[in-house]
Amino acid sequence: MGFPSAISIAQRWVAERLGAGEPAIDATAGNGVDTLFLAKQSGARGTIYAFDIQAVALEQTQERISSENAGPLATVKLIHRSHDGMAEEVPSDHHGRIAAVMFNLGYLPGSDQVVITNPASTLPALQAALGLLRKNGVLTIVLYPGHPGGHEEAEAVEAWAAGLDPLTAETLLYRFLNRAKSTPYLLGIIKK
Ligand SMILES: C[S@@+](CC[C@H](N)C(=O)[O-])C[C@H]1O[C@@H](n2cnc3c(N)ncnc32)[C@H](O)[C@@H]1O
Repeated sequence: MGFPSAISIAQRWVAERLGAGEPAIDATAGNGVDTLFLAKQSGARGTIYAFDIQAVALEQTQERISSENAGPLATVKLIHRSHDGMAEEVPSDHHGRIAAVMFNLGYLPGSDQVVITNPASTLPALQAALGLLRKNGVLTIVLYPGHPGGHEEAEAVEAWAAGLDPLTAETLLYRFLNRAKSTPYLLGIIKK
């Protein structure tokens, strides 16, 4: 059996840390796979904040949540706004209490790829996410170097993470070394 994909490992790292009833954020809702995962993980007493700048992504996420009938889900708040506004959208009583923030960069799967994440909003959003996390909370970022602009964004995110003070955050890369350079990879951050 080979190593799990970046997306699977991101969910594993979150599952190890997001407890029942704890709030979490999906910074790039897309078609809602991570939002649903977070909502299941946090359960009935939790709240998940899911951001996307495309209405169609939030509609797909809502559909996925509504058609799920296995077990109690957290309350999902869909927010049609860029993730760099997350500190304003998440109520202040959840600041410093968020257990996990997931970023899955790039474009909406199945879309025309015109709308993509970009460092001008991704980097401030990551900084905001770090501020919202509780101690030992986890930030996962799946990076896509394969599309135009994706490599530059991945490099900018890596440089940002590498510059974090090790006393405040632990950072880790999960990346296949002998696959195509365009293969998605994962950056994980634990807040100390
Ligand atoms: C790779 S997809 C996310 C996939 C999603 N995590 C899933 O499980 O289906 C990236 C998403 O980021 C969204 N996006 C792009 N720029 C954004 C921004 N500034 N703020 C929030 N979402 C953004 C896109 O609209 C797209 O839906």
